Amino acid sequence: MKTQVCIIGAGPAGLLLGHLLRAEGIECVVLERRTGDYVLGRIRAGVLEQVTVGLMRRLGLDGRMKREGLPHDGFNLADGERLIRIDIEELTGQHVMVYGQTELTRDLMDASAERDLQVVYGAEDVALHDVDSASPYVTYVKDGLEQRVDCRFIAGCDGFHGPSRQAIPASEGKEFERVYPFGWLGILADVPPCNHELIYANHERGFALASMRSATRSRYYVDVPLTEKVEDWSDERIWDELAIRLGPEAAANITRGPSIEKSIAPLRSYVFAPMRYGSLLLCGDSAHIVPPTGAKGLNLAASDVYYAVEALIGFFGKNDGGAIAAYSDKALARVWKSERFSWSLTRLMHRFPEDGRFERAMQVAELDYIASSRAAQTSIAENYVGLPV
Ligand code: APR
Ligand code: PHB
Repeated sequence: MKTQVCIIGAGPAGLLLGHLLRAEGIECVVLERRTGDYVLGRIRAGVLEQVTVGLMRRLGLDGRMKREGLPHDGFNLADGERLIRIDIEELTGQHVMVYGQTELTRDLMDASAERDLQVVYGAEDVALHDVDSASPYVTYVKDGLEQRVDCRFIAGCDGFHGPSRQAIPASEGKEFERVYPFGWLGILADVPPCNHELIYANHERGFALASMRSATRSRYYVDVPLTEKVEDWSDERIWDELAIRLGPEAAANITRGPSIEKSIAPLRSYVFAPMRYGSLLLCGDSAHIVPPTGAKGLNLAASDVYYAVEALIGFFGKNDGGAIAAYSDKALARVWKSERFSWSLTRLMHRFPEDGRFERAMQVAELDYIASSRAAQTSIAENYVGLPV
């Protein structure tokens, strides 16, 4: 097969990129290792910045999001005693959209056929070749048969563990990484949220987050040491811990119920630079990971895609090779600012094993400063709602 762009990975980055390229008349194909159901089975955050909402609107695929999504004008920080509301609407004039990543991925998947976006599920042994040439190609196995895709560009949208980043020689890139000494134990339950907005809590006992998927489905997290096992955390134990960490005001409104999903996820900050090598562009988790504290993972994938589409339109539409050359610097400029915000909020809201009384006092003081400073709240708000692309 011959195409203009071969996209590896049918997660949010790969599907968003594929749809946007097809909308511009650029030929592409998406190669996905798993089945569509497997991809949809992943439980992921769903706080969308305007860049993500805007790309779905640009595609005309925001209908269900407008019907079922929850626009949020603010969120809360809690210090174990009080809620500190960050009024992002008043401070930035924007809002975020609470809409599960699974639902956004489903909307993109469901539109593939009608939008003439070819997605090959069950593409095994995907391998990238001649990525530093102007005629790269990708091989894969489908139903036992070896296939080849000749293309002008490869878009590596295959997540942190995919083959694309590995196709770049180690000497051509740099890794930046911080692995955090705790994980997030998440629980999904069909109960109404305890608050109409998100609550991020830093309690003496640790971090907690009260989030949601809808008015009837809640998503909660507590941080736990990496040695913990999910089977050691009964639903009741999680509800009890949430009630303590979220503080009395939220606890009074927690509705308990059986978990429909429960898991522990590690936290990492990671960046690989550059995000382009020859004819290979990296987008999304293949190039960077953020701790979920700032809800930036999906939104960074979206801004990478925004810059990648801009570069590919420049190349194919205006024969502007400079647009491709500028991709990595443009994408990384926003990646680093989101990495900083996610790291900073993680540092503020979690108890680190090496922390002593002084570090705890600094966290309490910073939360107290945020509670009393419009400037501090504005800084948090403009990062949370998403910096401009
Ligand atoms: N061959 C083909 N597909 C692959 C391969 C491979 N060898 N390896 C990985 N993939 C697929 C995965 O199955 C997955 O569907 O690439 C896709 C990558 O999707 P994501 O991991 O969701 O990454 P991305 O699209 O960048 O979206 C980032 O997803 O993981 C969350 O927190 C993250 O919210 C962020 C968002
Ligand atoms: C979620 O709803 O899963 C969620 C929300 C906000 C975050 C992280 C996760 O920062």
